[in-house]
Amino acid sequence: MSDLPVHLRTSEHGEATGNTVYAQVGGMQTFETLCTKFYDRVQQDEVMWPMYPQDDLEGAIWRLSRFLGQYFGGPATYSSVRGHPRLRMRHVAFHINPDARDRWLRHMTEAVDEMDFAPAIRATMLDYFDRAATAMVNTFEPTPNASDNSR
Ligand code: HEM
Repeated sequence: MSDLPVHLRTSEHGEATGNTVYAQVGGMQTFETLCTKFYDRVQQDEVMWPMYPQDDLEGAIWRLSRFLGQYFGGPATYSSVRGHPRLRMRHVAFHINPDARDRWLRHMTEAVDEMDFAPAIRATMLDYFDRAATAMVNTFEPTPNASDNSR
């Protein structure tokens, strides 16, 4: 059943294999593509990129795409490898002020918009990303050494 083309997997055709967002967008490959597009943008961002593991971009794409795939109804691969998400706790080490939140959300929104998702899927994702990114804010201090980030 999972080999069905995406349009046959949606419940409106009565052929649903599960009406999760995960199934409707075509499974893990789609989340990997989305996260690759997201990280393409993060790499261009002089505030965000220094926070990320520069030598493990593939690992970062793997972690984010497995988490999102799981969150949106796919297999629990993220939790079986990384444990309980506890996302806010995992982000405490990073300096996430409202500017970082806005940057994360802007890069993710642009990545979503490159994917040509159905409007309801797009809205569901952006609603979640907006709330999740706001929940990750852990400081109102300005970005430290913002002007020296190119070092
Ligand atoms: C608000 C701004 C955010 C910033 C600045 C930020 C930054 C980071 C950084 C620097 C990492 C480490 C990269 C890695 O090794 O995987 C990370 C990991 C991660 N982030 Fe975020 N993040 C933000 C928001 C979010 C949101 C909204 C989500 C979920 C919707 C999210 C999900 C994750 C996940 C799943 C990981 C991997 C955790 C792990 O297993 O270690 N992040 N984030």
